Amino acid sequence: MSGSGWRHVVAALRGRDFLAVADLSPADLHGLLDLAAELKAGRDPGVPLARRSVAMFFLRPSNRTRVSFEAAIHRLGGHPIALFDREIELGRRESVSDVGRILDRYVDGLVARIPSARDLLGLAASMNGPVINAMTDQGHPCQILADCLTVREALGRLEGARLTFVGDGNNVCNSWIEAARVAELDLRVVTPPGYEPNRRDLDRMTGAAPGGQVLVTNDLDEGLTGTEVIYTDVWTSMGQEDQHEDRRQDFGPYQINEDVLGRAPAGVRVMHCLPAHRGEEITDAVMDGPQAIVFDQAENRYWVQLALLTSIFGPETT
Ligand code: CP
Ligand code: NVA
Repeated sequence: MSGSGWRHVVAALRGRDFLAVADLSPADLHGLLDLAAELKAGRDPGVPLARRSVAMFFLRPSNRTRVSFEAAIHRLGGHPIALFDREIELGRRESVSDVGRILDRYVDGLVARIPSARDLLGLAASMNGPVINAMTDQGHPCQILADCLTVREALGRLEGARLTFVGDGNNVCNSWIEAARVAELDLRVVTPPGYEPNRRDLDRMTGAAPGGQVLVTNDLDEGLTGTEVIYTDVWTSMGQEDQHEDRRQDFGPYQINEDVLGRAPAGVRVMHCLPAHRGEEITDAVMDGPQAIVFDQAENRYWVQLALLTSIFGPETT
């Protein structure tokens, strides 16, 4: 490949773990998005993963993340090996560090969707090969990379974008908060009382340069003021199924429906990381309506995984 704006990122991320959006500099983030956009526009990525294997842990269900990573690894000439809880039984059949040390003898890297952020760090510490966070209960950085590309496509810019996250202050929200700092977003986080992002994490994620701002509120209309993008996520995340009824009650007033769109600025875009629980956090009318860009957002998972894998595993520069 040859190219320009993204060349730096191919060198900067080579061989590195990708565990959090906060791991990226603004130049890394913009470089990844530039490369993803060029790949989406038709640039041939070559086969930087030829004759290499990448293990993938999916200890929680997945459609978009697994399929986009698996397709991207294959497109880059590599061999993805998907493993599920019944095979790995992480920390039960074998310790986290033993699993990582063994895998390191067989494969060139790991894409891991596991509940525990601590276990993810344990795997990363026990492996020499790069580890990519495919979602923990604390963060979903690959999702937010694709979402940043989607915002940039929809608004024509990322920096200063006014985005309102409506939902639970957990993994997807946490990664948006990190992105607010790296991409200098104007982020509003709207949650029901008791579901705000963890204060300590919030301070840590927003405390450092370069910038951006994060408003946390329980008032949906405050969050909607002047916004350009409404972003929502499920009320009941994977692993929280036993809280479903309580959450339906608590989150009910925060459903993204036509009334809420009517209270937001005209032309506001609607995003959702998916899977959508239609009729809970989002209605069919909004999800299938003209302001929703959720399927473009899902598609962008593939282009961003290609860019990320190329940067981490690819040649220095060509
Ligand atoms: N958005 C997302 O991560 O979807 P999956 O859970 O289907 O991978
Ligand atoms: N918050 C959701 C995100 C799914 C992509 C969950 O953890 O289930």
